[in-house]
Amino acid sequence: MKGIFITFEGGEGSGKTTIIKRLTEELTQKGYRVVCTREPGGSKIAEGIRNIILDKENTEMDYMTEALLYAASRAQHLSEKVKPALKEGKVVLCDRYLDSSLAYQGYARGLGIDRVYDINLYATEGLLPNLTLFVDIAPSVGLDRIKQNHREEDRLDKEKIDFHERVHSGYLEVARRFPERIKVVDGEQSVEEVYADVQKIIFDYLGV
Ligand code: TYD
Repeated sequence: MKGIFITFEGGEGSGKTTIIKRLTEELTQKGYRVVCTREPGGSKIAEGIRNIILDKENTEMDYMTEALLYAASRAQHLSEKVKPALKEGKVVLCDRYLDSSLAYQGYARGLGIDRVYDINLYATEGLLPNLTLFVDIAPSVGLDRIKQNHREEDRLDKEKIDFHERVHSGYLEVARRFPERIKVVDGEQSVEEVYADVQKIIFDYLGV
């Protein structure tokens, strides 16, 4: 594939969405053809799967079902949106990808990072990002930010704080396993500082 696939990871309230939006604008201004997308979703079928997973009514969902649905949504999103863009040589910026499954389902839900990685290698046919930015923020700080922004809480935001602590530990473990691909950014700095760190890593990678 000719394009460049960059993914963004982090717990709730880490600010990744704001960062991706700014980066999309800046790279576009520099003449890059950029596709900005998100997981789970980014296409009609994948969004439908996302709605089943995040539905507040679906409290009895089995953890393995959840992991498989995320992987299914990922496969659809890849074939409809990400792969075509990469073939055209575009830069794809994606809000969450398989590392979310490793941290949330693999580590925090206890399915095991290796097992969830295997499911995802199957679903993605081994398409890993060129680069992944993990915006690292303590769960208590992230959740406070969400409350301040009065963002509507979904089923997963409602999980207890210890679940978010486990997600955080999961991300740190995943970052340790893939040090070449995953770069860790301190998400507790001001938005400007976080953006500057992310920008430097990406511009260095692109050779801008
Ligand atoms: P979303 O509202 O998109 O969260 P955010 O804005 O923080 O990215 O909801 C996505 C939720 O789904 C979030 O709680 C993380 C979770 N998730 C998983 O558990 N596994 C996955 O593979 C993915 C992609 C997301």
